[in-house]
Amino acid sequence: MLYIGVDLGTSAVKLLLMNEKGGIEKIVSREYPIYFPQAGWSQQNPEDWYRETITGIKELVSECDKSQVAGISFGGQMHGLVILDKDDNVIRPAILWNDGRTYKECDYLNNVIGKDKLSEYTANISFTGFTAPKVLWVKNNEPENFAKIAKIMLPKDYIAYMLSGVHCTDVSDASGMLLFDVKNKCWSKEMLDICGVKESQMAQIFESYETVGTLKADVAAELGLSTSVKIVAGAGDNAAAAVGTGTVGDGNCNISLGTSGTIFISSKKFGVDANNALHAFAHADGAYHLMGCMLSAASCNKWWMDDIIGTDAYAEEQKKITKLGENHVYFLPYLMGERSPHNDPNARGCFIGMTMDTSRADMTQAVLEGVAFALRDSLEVARSLGIKIERTKICGGGAKSPLWKKIIANVMNLKVDVIASEEGPAYGGAMLAAVANGEFASVEDAASKLVKVVDTVEPTPELVAKYEERYQKFRKIYPAVKALFPEIA
Ligand code: XUL
Repeated sequence: MLYIGVDLGTSAVKLLLMNEKGGIEKIVSREYPIYFPQAGWSQQNPEDWYRETITGIKELVSECDKSQVAGISFGGQMHGLVILDKDDNVIRPAILWNDGRTYKECDYLNNVIGKDKLSEYTANISFTGFTAPKVLWVKNNEPENFAKIAKIMLPKDYIAYMLSGVHCTDVSDASGMLLFDVKNKCWSKEMLDICGVKESQMAQIFESYETVGTLKADVAAELGLSTSVKIVAGAGDNAAAAVGTGTVGDGNCNISLGTSGTIFISSKKFGVDANNALHAFAHADGAYHLMGCMLSAASCNKWWMDDIIGTDAYAEEQKKITKLGENHVYFLPYLMGERSPHNDPNARGCFIGMTMDTSRADMTQAVLEGVAFALRDSLEVARSLGIKIERTKICGGGAKSPLWKKIIANVMNLKVDVIASEEGPAYGGAMLAAVANGEFASVEDAASKLVKVVDTVEPTPELVAKYEERYQKFRKIYPAVKALFPEIA
């Protein structure tokens, strides 16, 4: 049998065709635009996602035996607010995970309702990218749109809805809405009340590996697939990536270097850190996880390469970097504000420490290192909770760079396990579809049979020591410039 994993990302949708042995038959990627209508705002059109997903699936299955396709599942960009009216029309563009417009609503939720209450109801506090403050923002700023809302959904769930007709979500993605009681895996009545939303507007909740329905007849005909193809709930992209890298069970770690950067720690038990600095979410394997998320990771390097120095020769640029651990330039990677651990939508990117002998390579190196240092900020929170992590998996576009993996290994003092496929969320999505179809007994079973480590990047004591010294300097920069950001922003 064949399974389709759909990774509904921020820059593109990636589609992956996997056979029942876990072999990747084909990968297709289709881009769509992202709009920044004001500084710190970030939107996409759900119709663009759907159109490119459908075109992508057609291309993906164009050479295979279509009767063998048995399931479709997802990893989707998290937190985005998609709202439909009573006739299923999209009311306004989706407001994305890296959109910072809701700072007033976050302030209200965190400081008037109170962080303790939010944490009691949902296991999390409010960040600008989360869904509940966006619902409040629409209520406060676009009351005519708010009045039209019949269905509230997350990005990948819009695709599942269009394919199956079922208004569904999964526990991992629902966790990032701040409307979901993560511990008890149900909608939080208190949070729905606070946001002025009824449960009838919310999706039906599934575990990530559960079937929500089958392909609608018209869509099946358009794709040339059977109406018996199962649509499986899927997961938020980080939980799906964790499945795709085998980060399941207890105490395992995955780093994703995509548009965002995340550090994801799987856990058998539900747990919340006292300061809510890390997100406490449900996992796609049926259990839970903690996660730190930085808003700009590989996107910092993309910005620096494409927009600033104007080259697409990423590997060539990185070849000029020879002095690891000795750079005098530092970069704060807060190009879209920052989520974990600073929770500061006004934070901005900056270079500091340049001198007349600073080279282009030093600046490129500073960008790669700045992302690694900022990820370490979240790792330090996990370490402060007594969580012991010695190794991590890695995925996402940035994981293609051997140099960046070496920097991550040494900045974080972690062994970095490289797996055969870096297609985390798309592969994880296909695995979830295979589990729902009975190919594997559980998500953990699928992960243990399909995910193979092919290489490990080991930290070296000398570089770890050099980077330790530099990290201690890096972590002083944000507090020193923090007060300026609201003025600059
Ligand atoms: C996680 C988050 C991002 C997006 C990226 O909390 O906001 O990783 O899911 O697609």
